[in-house]
Amino acid sequence: EKDGYDWFMRKEIFEQPRAVADALLGRRDAEGKLQLDEMRIDASELQGIDKIIIIAAGTSYYAGMVAKYAIEHWTRISVEVELASEFRYRDPILTRSTLVVAISQSGETADTLQAIRHARAQQSKVLAICNTNGSTIPRESDGVIYTYAGPEIGVASTKGYVTQLVACYLLALYLAQTKNTLYGDEINGVMDQLEAMPAHVQTVLDEADKVYQFARDHVDTKSVLFLGRHAGYPVALEGALKLKELAYIHAEGFAAGELKHGPIALIEEGLPVFCIVPPKGRDQLREKMVSAIQEIRARGAATIVLAEHDDEAITPYADEFIRLPKVPVLLQPLVAVVPLQLFACELATAMGHDVDQPRNLAKSVTVE
Ligand code: F6R
Repeated sequence: EKDGYDWFMRKEIFEQPRAVADALLGRRDAEGKLQLDEMRIDASELQGIDKIIIIAAGTSYYAGMVAKYAIEHWTRISVEVELASEFRYRDPILTRSTLVVAISQSGETADTLQAIRHARAQQSKVLAICNTNGSTIPRESDGVIYTYAGPEIGVASTKGYVTQLVACYLLALYLAQTKNTLYGDEINGVMDQLEAMPAHVQTVLDEADKVYQFARDHVDTKSVLFLGRHAGYPVALEGALKLKELAYIHAEGFAAGELKHGPIALIEEGLPVFCIVPPKGRDQLREKMVSAIQEIRARGAATIVLAEHDDEAITPYADEFIRLPKVPVLLQPLVAVVPLQLFACELATAMGHDVDQPRNLAKSVTVE
């Protein structure tokens, strides 16, 4: 069943080009308009939406953080992202014009389920983004976007996560189409870029051996940090979560702009720090990231830099350089997360841990 891989997780990482392609399949009609078969929430209703609250847990929450950047940019609707376990307890402001989006791979996470029940009781519409057909969360939602990753068996989410990202982009573009905040040509342009992503993900996977090598080089490390900005920030959080789950070591993700507000005090000689650099087209973001990398390197960090393949200006500051394909900043999480998954999988393997069944974890958390 593992197709020759040692772990389901590793197999699922390598299935991601196919999973991303499947998540995109059949989403445009003959005229090139986006269609979401199980949206089930009327266009007239969506046109009236003035706020979106995304609720999720763990990795799905980090997908939701990326979704905020995309939805706000393409639709100008304001988006909050909230941990499902916190949502109900803060008396959230929900109205008929609030759309609640619940992201859950399993469709059974108890906190997320309770959160959507609360939202529906307040008359808000609920849309599920889910990988599991017929599970409880989509059954109790007004509409659903299925992610079509196929069954995810490894406890740590990988193909589940990238297909959630795809579903979030589709939702953002669909709302932009419904609310007329983007032209049809612009939507089709982003769809074309999305359809190029499976090949880009494959390019990153083709470099897996290099990532494996420095995972093995770092087998004695006690801590790893991850830095990102913009859509790269949630990817940093996701990279850290993968490492905590699988390698049982301290790992933390930060927004690079926060470094000087505290975390830079953690930097010491030899500390591995992953740095996710925004694409070259986004110079303001990129230059700030580069100066953050210079600062931590000056303090002895071992920098593992993820940047565009031809971003040669970065090489003097990169102890390791992971080359990423050229993609727009909003879509960069789809490629940037892959080396972080590979790193966590390989480091945990080298440490002798059970990658598919990490200690203390369950695939779906059905208690609050
Ligand atoms: C991380 C992981 C968990 C889940 C979280 C939510 O690798 O698997 O953090 O993402 O428990 O689960 P779902 O998406 O099923 O609601």
